[in-house]
Amino acid sequence: MNTVSPLLSVSGLHVQFGGLTALDSASFNISPHSVVALIGPNGAGKTTAFNAISGFVPISSGEIEFQGKKISWPKTHELAALRISRTLQGVGLFSGLNVCENVMLGADTQKSSNIFTDLIGASGKSEKRLREKAMEVLSSLGVAHLAERLPHELSYPDSKKVALARALISDPLLLMLDEPAAGLDQGDIDELATIINEVKRNCAVFVVEHHVDFVGEISDQVYVLNFGKIIASGTFDAVKEDPEVLTAYLGSSRH
Ligand SMILES: Nc1ncnc2c1ncn2[C@@H]1O[C@H](COP(=O)(O)OP(=O)(O)OP(=O)(O)O)[C@@H](O)[C@H]1O
Ligand SMILES: [Mg+2]
Repeated sequence: MNTVSPLLSVSGLHVQFGGLTALDSASFNISPHSVVALIGPNGAGKTTAFNAISGFVPISSGEIEFQGKKISWPKTHELAALRISRTLQGVGLFSGLNVCENVMLGADTQKSSNIFTDLIGASGKSEKRLREKAMEVLSSLGVAHLAERLPHELSYPDSKKVALARALISDPLLLMLDEPAAGLDQGDIDELATIINEVKRNCAVFVVEHHVDFVGEISDQVYVLNFGKIIASGTFDAVKEDPEVLTAYLGSSRH
């Protein structure tokens, strides 16, 4: 029996876009310091689940609890206060800011608004501390030497690391990664797996991913979504043999 209280508990989540049911009674739990993968065919509702948790889309019904407290429609600064951070599907860096500044913006919106002030002139202790922290995180991911570069000067794998650094600077308890391995080659994916195993010592990781071997390597628990419904959950080895999962992957996708 699992006696650890979940860090994140989602139950009966329902999200509707007009006539389309993107999530249909989806329920899942994430334990502290675990790596949980949410997988499923294109259009299954994975990003929508992330968006619902982080307040980007409204939910029609269901409950989301973080550390035993109900959350709904959290604003960005509330997510930071809860210590939930996420990366976006793709990269999503601010093109006009350098790498270090992009990472500093992940700290939280209260501090980030100070950074904007600092960037246009005044500087302060908080800005210096944040800059140091950003450099620490960049360094831990092996990309501190890129701190002064602009996003368009980065290779794709490096820009993904910067996006990850931006999510890590707030010392999250829950890190949500939407397709962190997309577009990476095998060497970069192996490096990412090592990073996730390190990160897990400090926080839980909720990851949406299509790279099946990578999911198998990093996950403690896997949930499979298809047409908005969770059709299987368990260890990777268990769900990969599940006939309904095999059918979902071989069969229909919305795109
Ligand atoms: N803001 C929105 N408005 C209308 N429909 C949406 C919106 N966001 C997602 N959808 C639809 O909801 C369904 C689920 O989309 P979602 O992006 O969650 O899928 P996904 O599992 O992340 O897919 P992928 O693996 O391709 O990223 C799709 O049919 C999508 O077109
Ligand atoms: Mg998606």
